[in-house]
Amino acid sequence: MTRHLLIPPRRLLRASIWETEELPGSAKAQLIVDDSSSPGGWIVKSIRASQGDLVSGDQAAFNDYVGSRIAEAAGFSVGEVGIMRMDDEFLDGYKHLRNQSHGSFIAGEHFAVKYYPGSQTLDYYFSALLRAELRAKCINPWVVNEVVAFDSGLSNWDRSIPMQGLSGENPKNLLIRPARTGGGLEIVIIDQGYCFAANWNTMVPPVFPSSLGAWPNEVFGVFHTLAKLNMYDQNEVLVKLGMLQSLTVADINSIIQEVPASWLGFTTSAQLTALVSALTHRLAGYARIITGNLTSVRTHAMVKV
Ligand SMILES: Nc1ncnc2c1ncn2[C@@H]1O[C@H](COP(=O)(O)OP(=O)(O)O)[C@@H](O)[C@H]1O
Ligand SMILES: [Mg+2]
Repeated sequence: MTRHLLIPPRRLLRASIWETEELPGSAKAQLIVDDSSSPGGWIVKSIRASQGDLVSGDQAAFNDYVGSRIAEAAGFSVGEVGIMRMDDEFLDGYKHLRNQSHGSFIAGEHFAVKYYPGSQTLDYYFSALLRAELRAKCINPWVVNEVVAFDSGLSNWDRSIPMQGLSGENPKNLLIRPARTGGGLEIVIIDQGYCFAANWNTMVPPVFPSSLGAWPNEVFGVFHTLAKLNMYDQNEVLVKLGMLQSLTVADINSIIQEVPASWLGFTTSAQLTALVSALTHRLAGYARIITGNLTSVRTHAMVKV
């Protein structure tokens, strides 16, 4: 099978208009239009806006971009990502974007994800009534199993931590957007800023929680709301994991090559090689972990509040 992973030209975006809408989240993301590409806005996170204490802005951009492109290459429903170029002329027109309150933007390249207007995040569906609405209208319920395969395989602990009590669930990292046709709802996986364990160092012994090896047995990505709706299916998770496993080292390297040099200051080529090797090694062995733990994680998610 021929794969086409090279970045299509439209993924290189140019900042032209800043939209005033305020977005939630720690990265101080801004809504920005590129009027030379498709209509509509992009959610843009500055490479200088670090996420928490663990992840610098450039590393978060790397994680979010590479994680999203890996998910996309595996055929998962993930937000469309791009690289937005910002020049000084644009920033001079919107001077506040240089302020810390708006992400400390500088001229250069920043991470962007296509903005889906009218979306909610999973936390919106907190009552039995809203849950029932989600179940009835969702046109791609299998995506919940993609989330389990992706988060478990790529050590993404910023969405849910069912087994180790670090910070519970972050249902704001699962987007429910209006379906493109027919009035239904579509699940979209967003915010991969903490994948590869956030810091993705390959230290031995691993540093908890930010080394790849810190989560050897964790099944991530299982949510209370979705467990209550009985949406998880072990075979389906294994099929989705298989889709990630079918990506080759060359595929992953080709995605990494799309990353602008300005995002790579936090790493070295030797570390990148170690990351890809640790990642493919982890993915190769993860069916056993899913099979051994998914049932208990699902049971745990059902009862947690
Ligand atoms: N593609 C999108 N379309 C619409 N809203 C989005 C999209 N991506 C993110 N959001 C909204 O913005 C919030 C913050 O985005 P996120 O990527 O999670 O950034 P942070 O790193 O700050 O958590 C999300 O919780 C969601 O409410
Ligand atoms: Mg988030």
